[in-house]
Amino acid sequence: MAALFLTGLSLLPDTAFGQEIPSLKDTFRNDFGIGTALNMAQIEEKDPQMTAFIVRQFNMATPENIMKSGLIHPKWDTYAFEPADKLVEFGKKHNIRINGHTLIWHSQLPPFVRGIQSRDSVRAFFTNHIKTVAGRYAGKVFSWDVVNEALNEDGTMRKTVFLQHLGEDYVTEAFRLTQQAAPNTELYYNDYNNEQPAKRAGCIALVKKIQAAGVRIDGVGIQGHWHVGRVPLKDIEESILQYAALGLKVMITELDIEVLPRNFQGAEVSRQMAANAESNPYPDGLPDAVQQQLAADYQALFRLFLKHKDKITRVTFWGVNDGLSWLNNWPVRGRTNYPLLFDRKNQPKPAFYKVVSLK
Ligand code: G3I
Repeated sequence: MAALFLTGLSLLPDTAFGQEIPSLKDTFRNDFGIGTALNMAQIEEKDPQMTAFIVRQFNMATPENIMKSGLIHPKWDTYAFEPADKLVEFGKKHNIRINGHTLIWHSQLPPFVRGIQSRDSVRAFFTNHIKTVAGRYAGKVFSWDVVNEALNEDGTMRKTVFLQHLGEDYVTEAFRLTQQAAPNTELYYNDYNNEQPAKRAGCIALVKKIQAAGVRIDGVGIQGHWHVGRVPLKDIEESILQYAALGLKVMITELDIEVLPRNFQGAEVSRQMAANAESNPYPDGLPDAVQQQLAADYQALFRLFLKHKDKITRVTFWGVNDGLSWLNNWPVRGRTNYPLLFDRKNQPKPAFYKVVSLK
């Protein structure tokens, strides 16, 4: 391997400087699952090196987009199951558990939903969608993000087409329908910033309502879209404890750490920021000081996750490497971001080594 390095030939994807890269999933095998978000090219195994890398590093996966209602249910009576079927095959073949994402979300809805005016039609869409999609993948996906991002920052219910037409009970109803369609699948509520006190309180109220109705909810996903140097460790720990106290599994479901300038926190996809001279400060590489801060933040996070490994079942990164992160295009298009543990060539960053050094 040293010879390979000296000749300057490109390194194998699972080696860094001639050394085999440790595997995240193996490192944390006895603690929690390690997941990633997958895009269509990865699901279709377009790049064998990428496939090998994914299989070596991760044992759980969430589709980044293809199971969202706008993609899987494009017309009233038409479903596009092929990509999700391929994902299920990918998981089976590579021994990767799939978390379905997501049944009920106000964003990335099919265009026809915008034209629906009546309560009955919204209810019909809602019911048919859950029954059909959750039913088809029953026994094929391990879990579902049944409802995604139903809360405002102050903990009140977000005003969506579902709240407007079906009332506050739509969340409980979504879990009830999914439970019926997929009785052996784990059912989760998923949100961002739900480690923040006000939103956390709203999330807890939501969970209690579901439980009081005698409907099953197995876990809460804290998405984990955080910012370098400002990771809210105390709030995260408090949230892990409070969610677990409800009898729930806790998951970190969309982990990334933003390193670029942003004037708000979270993952509200409808928010945009204007590009200006300062908005893309590191097109040629991350300065060492930021790289070290990122590494320290990731290490502190994983130290916390390990402390509560009896409550945390999964940590999923939102993307395999920096080049594939949604944060290169949101809230400003075309930036060069560095939010994950692997760089654009799937090489481990200092943050990766800090994380695996905890074991
Ligand atoms: O597929 C089209 C392509 O045909 C078109 O040319 C291109 C031009 O804009 O857009 C492509 O669609 C994009 C899609 O990702 C696939 O790449 C959409 O514009 C873009 O908005 C969409 O972004 C996704 C975003 O959800 C949308 O809401 C991100 O990839 C995805 O990472 C992100 O994921 C969400 C989670 O589901 C929920 N939590 C927040 C998280 C981050 O926003």
